[in-house]
Amino acid sequence: MSEFTPRFLADYQPSPYRIHQTRLVIDLDDHKTKVTSQLSMEKVATDSQPLELDGEHLTLVSLLVDGKEIAESNYSVSDSSLVIEGLSGEFTLDIVTEIDPANNTALEGLYKSGQAYCTQCEAEGFRRITYYLDRPDVMSIFTTKVIGDKASYPYLLANGNPVERGQLENGKHFVTWHDPFPKPCYLFALVAGDFDLLADTYTTSSGKDVALEIFVDKGNRSKAEHAMASLKHSMRWDEETFGLVYDLDIYMIVAVDFFNMGAMENKGLNVFNSKYVLADTASATDVDFFNIEAVIAHEYFHNWTGNRITCRDWFQLSLKEGLTVFRDQQFSADMHSAAVTRIKNVKVLRAQQFAEDAGPMSHPIRPEKVMEMNNFYTLTVYEKGAEVIRMLHTLLGKQGFRAGMDRYFEKFDGMAVTCDDFVNAMAEANNRDLSIFKRWYGQSGTPEVTIEKRYFDERLHLTFSQVTPASPSQPEKQALHIPIKVEFIKPASNEVIEELLELKSESETWSFDVPQSTVVAPFAEFSAPVKVHFEQSDDELLSIVEHAKDSFSVWEAGQSILRKEVVRLMQNDNDEISESVMRTFQAVIDADIDPAFKALMLTLPSFDEVTGSEQNVNAQALVEVLERLKIFVANVFEQPLLSLFDESRKSINSDAQSAPGQRALSSVVLNYLAVKPEHHELVSKLFGNADNMTDQLAALTIAVRQQTSGAGTLLQKFEQQWINDTLVMDKWFSVNTNIPSSDLFAHMEALKTRPDFEMTNPNRVRALVGAFAMQNPKQFHCKSGQGYNFLANMVVEMDKLNPQVASRLITPLIQREAFSGEYQKLMTQALETIIQSPQLSKDITEKLNAALAEQ
Ligand code: TRP
Ligand code: ZN
Repeated sequence: MSEFTPRFLADYQPSPYRIHQTRLVIDLDDHKTKVTSQLSMEKVATDSQPLELDGEHLTLVSLLVDGKEIAESNYSVSDSSLVIEGLSGEFTLDIVTEIDPANNTALEGLYKSGQAYCTQCEAEGFRRITYYLDRPDVMSIFTTKVIGDKASYPYLLANGNPVERGQLENGKHFVTWHDPFPKPCYLFALVAGDFDLLADTYTTSSGKDVALEIFVDKGNRSKAEHAMASLKHSMRWDEETFGLVYDLDIYMIVAVDFFNMGAMENKGLNVFNSKYVLADTASATDVDFFNIEAVIAHEYFHNWTGNRITCRDWFQLSLKEGLTVFRDQQFSADMHSAAVTRIKNVKVLRAQQFAEDAGPMSHPIRPEKVMEMNNFYTLTVYEKGAEVIRMLHTLLGKQGFRAGMDRYFEKFDGMAVTCDDFVNAMAEANNRDLSIFKRWYGQSGTPEVTIEKRYFDERLHLTFSQVTPASPSQPEKQALHIPIKVEFIKPASNEVIEELLELKSESETWSFDVPQSTVVAPFAEFSAPVKVHFEQSDDELLSIVEHAKDSFSVWEAGQSILRKEVVRLMQNDNDEISESVMRTFQAVIDADIDPAFKALMLTLPSFDEVTGSEQNVNAQALVEVLERLKIFVANVFEQPLLSLFDESRKSINSDAQSAPGQRALSSVVLNYLAVKPEHHELVSKLFGNADNMTDQLAALTIAVRQQTSGAGTLLQKFEQQWINDTLVMDKWFSVNTNIPSSDLFAHMEALKTRPDFEMTNPNRVRALVGAFAMQNPKQFHCKSGQGYNFLANMVVEMDKLNPQVASRLITPLIQREAFSGEYQKLMTQALETIIQSPQLSKDITEKLNAALAEQ
């Protein structure tokens, strides 16, 4: 398993060669696409290094240097490169390669999604199109001529502006595109197909009209309206918030069904997973609408943070991703409820990024060692990366952060830079020393902060101590610069005081002139991505629930009470539910608060949220305790929950603005009520009356999880209604994996044999396999090991077709640390079966090596 070699950040060297101009002619054909590449190049290094172009899965047809053939002894071709000797000064290369897009199931490089051709080049997919310096610090001006059959591919798209089009013989036509902005090849894109086009224009704050074009499969035009509105909102927001204005005359988005990730920010030509474009109320949920807006914004924001300023090397990925996730989170917060958006972001971070940071693939937001770059598009680089940017925002304030962003663009526009460059711009613009802060970029693991509270000399003394647990690659961890927002709730008056503390050493004590029984709510807004240890009584937590100003603190205090309860119940299995849990629920049910926020307050910690912070977890015991708590709440609060359900259903029609929140609240409430068979009627009524996917899917999911007597019929009805809608059928596959009994395994085998279950479509595979592992902890962690083995087999099968997607699916099997020994052992056995399989990809090999080295 050692045939692959890692790369190290420390080994970075600038490229000895530059590519000034890239002129491509791509003549499309299913199995023999011809790629002609003319590169105007220059050798900038003075030593004798040969030119090493990257290339994979290519057939070299011809090679000319300055228009002439060269001796065979002057170049060599391997399965990953084309090496040319004897080049110097300025020269031109003409390279012709042939590729096979129709057999490209990895979905990297040029491939077919249904009837259309499209490309995915990030991180290192361009090398599957032609031989090139496939690294982000090589930036070039691209001119792309696309040739294709006119009837089948009326639209021929690439980056930049169209400059020429015309007819050719044999029913072919061509369009030539020119992108005036130098860019790395990972931002190259080409799309050819027959689409419906939704077109609009946007007038920038500088008065320029930009053509906005969204291309979708025929018949789906009306489902692109929300994406278009989201794009315009994003453009306005970036002008208003950061003074960033769009720079080309045209901005195109294409939605495709076969896609490895969410979307891709190719310059002027974004390619999206159709799941993040298409929506109408009948077929998409409120959450889908929210996510589409966020992903559209994310890719749009990349035009400045990613494209205009890009990464020097892939170790710097968080330079663009952490920053852009932070920007899209701020945008969502401004468009909707800031409190609810923040809490949802924190839930994802704590449930998933914390597990990653404790697992075998733990890495800093700027990794030091990478074998397969695709393995580093992670929650750590993206979500923790965004938290690191957010901490800068907290430390520098809104205006200071903006000043730092302005400085960053002044200094680095048009360049490929590092995370250090970004932090230096922030430090300079604010005249601040951020040298300790920079440790966040190089240190992996989740820091743990312990808080001790003492009262003497009429002052409250708070001691904050930090520890980051050692990891194999980093046995010694350093103290980090941690911003801590604290709220003090004074007794009697309940007056609230806020402070921002900056912990920069292992331990520090601050003292405050407040009365003795002042309640402390630390890490308001979740001001740092850390685990907090702070002994607080239930009364203190309840006081935070009732009086804290910051909504995150309110939610967190409620969740702390519930988490404590879960942990206690896991230890004493025949214990009663505590009084504090009852008081919390009562307070929340009675509170006059935003329904979306109330829904979050009434949601129990998820299985993953518990395993993200606990250790030695008995998975089945956890499933059972969460179920028991749910039943308890349903029994004790049956009447108030029924009224809450009625009220929220009524207000949906009267107030469109709060309808998504009300729908979320009603489904959280119904989820409790449905543990009682006498309320199953409500579930089938919600399904039957639903005029929108949010309610229909919520009802179906609850029916399946509770195995109501009508569940099977509802699954059938849903299937009949939506059989021709791929994205909705993905939801149907996912709901099927929620079946709580062990019949599930036979059922999933049957689902796999359906003609509409295609292993080559990542959305469909994730809908079945990913959903099973993430949404059904009871069967995934079943003691027979069947759940782990099912996943292991699917990973092996998928790895042969699409390593990138296989490598994401394996995640729940390698994150074993939270579980007790018996589960860890079964997971390891499943991993050992994977390793038996011949010819595993670099992606899977890197993860297995890391996971099995731990044992
Ligand atoms: N840059 C993309 C984003 O975050 C991520 C991405 C899309 C990607 N498709 C990919 C990364 C394929 C690796 C491989 O918006
Ligand atoms: Zn991104």
